[in-house]
Amino acid sequence: MCGIVGHLGPQNSVDVVLEGLKRLEYRGYDSAGVSFISSDNNLKIYKKKGKIQNLIDELADKEIHARSSIGHTRWATHGGVTDNNAHPHVCEDMGIAMVHNGIIENAGELREFLIGEGVKFKSETDSETFLGLLIYNVKQGKEIKEAVIESFKKIEGFSAFVVLNKETSEIFSIKNGAPLVCGMNEVNSEVLVSSDPYALAGIANKIYFPEDQVLCHLSAGNANLLNFYELDGSKSTRYISKSQSMDHNPAEKGEFEHFMLKEIYEQPELIRSLTQFYFQGEGKESLEQAVDLPRTNLHVTACGTAYYAGLVIKDFFEQINRIPCRPEVASEFRYRDPILNKDDLALFISQSGETADTLAAQELCKKTGMKTLSIVNTEGSTLFRDCNVNLLIRAGMEIGVASTKAFTQQVLTGRTLSAVIANGGMDDNLKNSLATKYSLLAERIEELLERSDEIRTVAGEIYRKQGFFYTGRGVYFPIALEGALKLKEIAYVHAEGYAAGELKHGPIALIDEEKVNVALVGPELYEKTVSNIQEIKARKGIIVVVGPQGKKDLEEIADYYIPINFDGLEELSPLYINVVNQLLAYHIAKFLGTDIDKPRNLAKSVTVE
Ligand code: G6P
Repeated sequence: MCGIVGHLGPQNSVDVVLEGLKRLEYRGYDSAGVSFISSDNNLKIYKKKGKIQNLIDELADKEIHARSSIGHTRWATHGGVTDNNAHPHVCEDMGIAMVHNGIIENAGELREFLIGEGVKFKSETDSETFLGLLIYNVKQGKEIKEAVIESFKKIEGFSAFVVLNKETSEIFSIKNGAPLVCGMNEVNSEVLVSSDPYALAGIANKIYFPEDQVLCHLSAGNANLLNFYELDGSKSTRYISKSQSMDHNPAEKGEFEHFMLKEIYEQPELIRSLTQFYFQGEGKESLEQAVDLPRTNLHVTACGTAYYAGLVIKDFFEQINRIPCRPEVASEFRYRDPILNKDDLALFISQSGETADTLAAQELCKKTGMKTLSIVNTEGSTLFRDCNVNLLIRAGMEIGVASTKAFTQQVLTGRTLSAVIANGGMDDNLKNSLATKYSLLAERIEELLERSDEIRTVAGEIYRKQGFFYTGRGVYFPIALEGALKLKEIAYVHAEGYAAGELKHGPIALIDEEKVNVALVGPELYEKTVSNIQEIKARKGIIVVVGPQGKKDLEEIADYYIPINFDGLEELSPLYINVVNQLLAYHIAKFLGTDIDKPRNLAKSVTVE
């Protein structure tokens, strides 16, 4: 969804901002704009609907030397996709430009008030009301810093704002319930702000996550490039800061054609490092805290892929720990008046930690007095800050919109917690047995990755088919759901995940020679699952079996058989099969020529409900 980048420093700010905006393309957007202070001290603004490249082309023949700049990618909510509705919104007379993420819920009444005060509007957006408020407050004689604070106080809803002030070259930013991160490179005297830490990677060596209602002030040319203030103007300490390595730049795809493929290949290494992090590293304390939380029942809430990870985790908690577990998608949970008790534990799973529905569900649970736990990738995200305890999944930045490595790490983090609870605490024996298990999984996934061409060949045979049914039983059912989601997201073909035994209760009516059944077959309930495949085969469906190796009956029944070595993987085998699904979806999408890393209509981080 919308993206913000602001930069202040000696190198050409517009280049930094455009590069940052390009990195945020994966979030989904429909127009882009930039505003900067030119070397002859004029406030300039360029905005274009469509791709960022349109904006870059527009700027190509201009000589630009700017030390401070803000930019935005817009995902339209109020007002059509036009150049005019794109951000930044600017008051040239006052030398103020601003960008906004989120929704201003009281925009209608603010607009009416401001029009009454003589403020003129140029766009149809809710965002411009914030500019209107700034104009109004400056006209009332307020300094820019005070004007930003006073304007912000009038805003209802979840938002983040960044303001560029020409007179002083300063940038201000402030947020409520929307992501915002600041960054600094002390060596180069550079300061940045963005809605996503990814825009700062490789540029800032220190990053700061301000809390809600903390005013961030970016200024050049003095010792304190970055300052934080409370709404009463006093200095604020309500932010988290952390150092960031400059050598690892996740913006690089390396030898891979797509980020998604790179992220699929990163999985073995990430899996191997997880036990170390939780048993000996920084994660130890949070895992111990998580074990101590009350947990009469476990409510697992998430969206998309993270929700499917929750379904796998539910199996661990119910089968291994015998803790009743209720997984639910956050958009339903939040409006359903769920039955929640103080002794229950609320678990939220999220890659970004910024998904609007998941955050709202967390807020709801927090209000009941329940303890809240997250399994989350982004340290410092809103979910991370709001939960009582956080278990980081350590997946690194995930750029591909379709989640891959985050799913694997979420499930393993859940498995680690379940194992520690079952063991009555952490000890070396448990660490070693988990490390051995995880290492076996990593090894098997490595073997699978070596077989990518074989999966590509299958994809090449079936990618023109009209519909896909992913089926599985027990622990493989959530994997069937996730497999179908992956294919829908990146290949734009209709796919459904189904419990293998449920297909005959309706969907089987759709089966013909144009439909594919990707049958996920595990060692458990083997015969029953094979019978379900027979039912599809009898109706001329194309059968792709992902199942145990060396099975004659599978070989006979399948049009395409991807044999798998399950030995020793036990409850982790769903993760292993899931990698086959990831590769299959990737190769099918590749044959169909879709935009794999940035699929149409999707956003990486869904910050509106
Ligand atoms: C979006 C993304 C999905 C993701 C879901 C939940 O729909 O496109 O890939 O699974 O949001 O995101 P979260 O950041 O909360 O895991």
